[in-house]
Amino acid sequence: MMARYAEITGWGKALPPVVLTNSDLELIVDTSDQWITSRSGIKERRISHVPASDMAELAARRAVAAAGIAMEEVDLIVNATCTPESIIPASASYVQAKLGAVNAGAIDVNANCSGFVYGYVMADSLVRSGAAGAVLLVGVERLSWLVDYTDRSTCILFGDGAGAVVVQASATPAGVLASELGVDGTMADILCVPNDGTIEPGSASSVTRLVMEGSDVFRRAVTAMADASESVVRQAGWDLDDIDLLVPHQANQRIIDATARRLKLDSARVFLNIHAYGNTSAATIPIALTEAIEAGRVPSRGNLVFAAFGGGLTWAAAAVRFGERVEPVGVIEDELPKSDQTVWELIQPNFDYYGRLERQ
Ligand code: UT7
Repeated sequence: MMARYAEITGWGKALPPVVLTNSDLELIVDTSDQWITSRSGIKERRISHVPASDMAELAARRAVAAAGIAMEEVDLIVNATCTPESIIPASASYVQAKLGAVNAGAIDVNANCSGFVYGYVMADSLVRSGAAGAVLLVGVERLSWLVDYTDRSTCILFGDGAGAVVVQASATPAGVLASELGVDGTMADILCVPNDGTIEPGSASSVTRLVMEGSDVFRRAVTAMADASESVVRQAGWDLDDIDLLVPHQANQRIIDATARRLKLDSARVFLNIHAYGNTSAATIPIALTEAIEAGRVPSRGNLVFAAFGGGLTWAAAAVRFGERVEPVGVIEDELPKSDQTVWELIQPNFDYYGRLERQ
């Protein structure tokens, strides 16, 4: 029987147009552009005026067009997110409906910032096994919903956005060569949104707000991302010189630099866009991968490393052989609609809410 592989054949992204800059943040919390830039590498982030499923839809349409397949050919939508639009149904149902992917199953995957890599390893396995022919994998987040814009230790970090890939059966050797999926659930409370589930049923004091012990998360992220990356490179049988591009989760430039140092990669072999979007959790890697391909930084049959770390505390890495084609088959020119709200109007509801809580 001919070997069956799983190739990334399509890619796409969708970023909302409204920008929240470091100078904007200087006006609402005690911080500075200099502090944020030097500690995180972030200069600005996007704030969405549309539902997450609208961002997911556009990124997905672009990925499906780039793959050159019909929407009806998608067998499964895997929607990696930790900012679902509702508890029931999963956000994947909204994405499926908007896409009109009538032959697809749809499921959300929540591994927080590691969600895309978890979803990708699952998609690759489903395609290789024959359980699916084409998986549409989306990473999408509307983190501005969870951000407390009175908390300077978190509000500087996060942004909104979506990215997507199509993973398809292929006879060309491609896909996941080695992967590592990990978690330390005992430390989950150092990065979490407390009280917003069934843990305190009916609790009137339930607060939907992301809380994080930043420096502890930072230390663990540095170790876990570097260890997992090194491990998949070794398992794939690569030398460090064989890596064409590291496409890391974009949470903090210093975390990325530490992983790059461990893999002995110069900046030409590391993709960075954290300055433009901040941390968009499960969306960072598919957005970064799309931009890397568009910038000509992913060679045909190139060796890529994906690496992520996030709430859970989860981590994930994959050594990936990219496919033959690095040009899209088709391109979607549509954009998200312009916003008639300013950045202040978009974050005002959160700001009022948390400001009020602070004063209680
Ligand atoms: O996606 C995965 C999950 N998230 C992450 O991976 C994020 C991991 N953490 C980080 O990226 C970093 O910890 C941060 C960027 C959040 C913070 O950087 P840090 O170098 O770890 O700073 P710190 O938390 O140790 O704080 C150092 C100082 C503190 O002041 P004192 O106690 O030394 O007087 C903070 O109060 O910096 C202060 N600080 C700020 N100052 C200006 C904290 N946030 C800010 C701010 N502006 N925005």
